[in-house]
Amino acid sequence: MTTITPRKTTESVRFTDGSTIELRPLGIRDGRLLSSFVSQLSPESHNRRLLSGGGGVRSEWVASLINADQLDCLVYGAVAVNEFGSALVAVAESIRDPGDRRRAEFALAAVDPWQDMGIGTLLTRHVTRIARSRGIRCWETHMLAENTGMARVMDHVGIRVGYSVHMGLASIVHELDRL
Ligand SMILES: CC(C)(COP(=O)(O)OP(=O)(O)OC[C@H]1O[C@@H](n2cnc3c(N)ncnc32)[C@H](O)[C@@H]1OP(=O)(O)O)[C@@H](O)C(=O)NCCC(=O)NCCS
Repeated sequence: MTTITPRKTTESVRFTDGSTIELRPLGIRDGRLLSSFVSQLSPESHNRRLLSGGGGVRSEWVASLINADQLDCLVYGAVAVNEFGSALVAVAESIRDPGDRRRAEFALAAVDPWQDMGIGTLLTRHVTRIARSRGIRCWETHMLAENTGMARVMDHVGIRVGYSVHMGLASIVHELDRL
């Protein structure tokens, strides 16, 4: 993958399939992209991300994503751009712990056809650089204990310093690398 235009919060990358991926903060103008992203997640991916089901949660999630302040609450997307248009294919969130400003909770989802192709790792690396520049040093991530894909993504961006499992739910803490 080749970096085409490095910028502070936005980066364009040539992906392995030839498409261009924009890694960028998401905001109020991205409501349609985000709604489409959320509606394209399979029920399994939706449940793995939110650790719950239920249609009502979807609209609340979109509302919280578009209203991120990009300081304490970072919401970044991977937008695939080709001659037919743009599609949001992965979303990462980092929400700062109000009790410890060096820590944040991290979460990630990619639409199903793009999973296991490297997009989650690519976006997480980008957000790691942004989060570190905002003073975040540790991410805590919650996932099903069987979710090895998510654990592997996180192991690419930091050193695992905490791990616990309760009722099938794993919580992992990573100290972020300088990337
Ligand atoms: C978990 C998730 C975000 C990972 O993103 P991704 O783009 O698929 O991950 P990548 O392609 O970057 O793969 C990262 C690593 O995980 C591995 N991996 C990916 N999916 C996997 C799977 N289903 N089973 C086992 N390993 C998997 C890859 O082989 C890769 O390993 P490597 O880097 O050692 O070669 C994505 O699968 C997803 O959106 N799942 C649903 C939502 C979710 O589970 N979110 C986590 C809770 S916050």
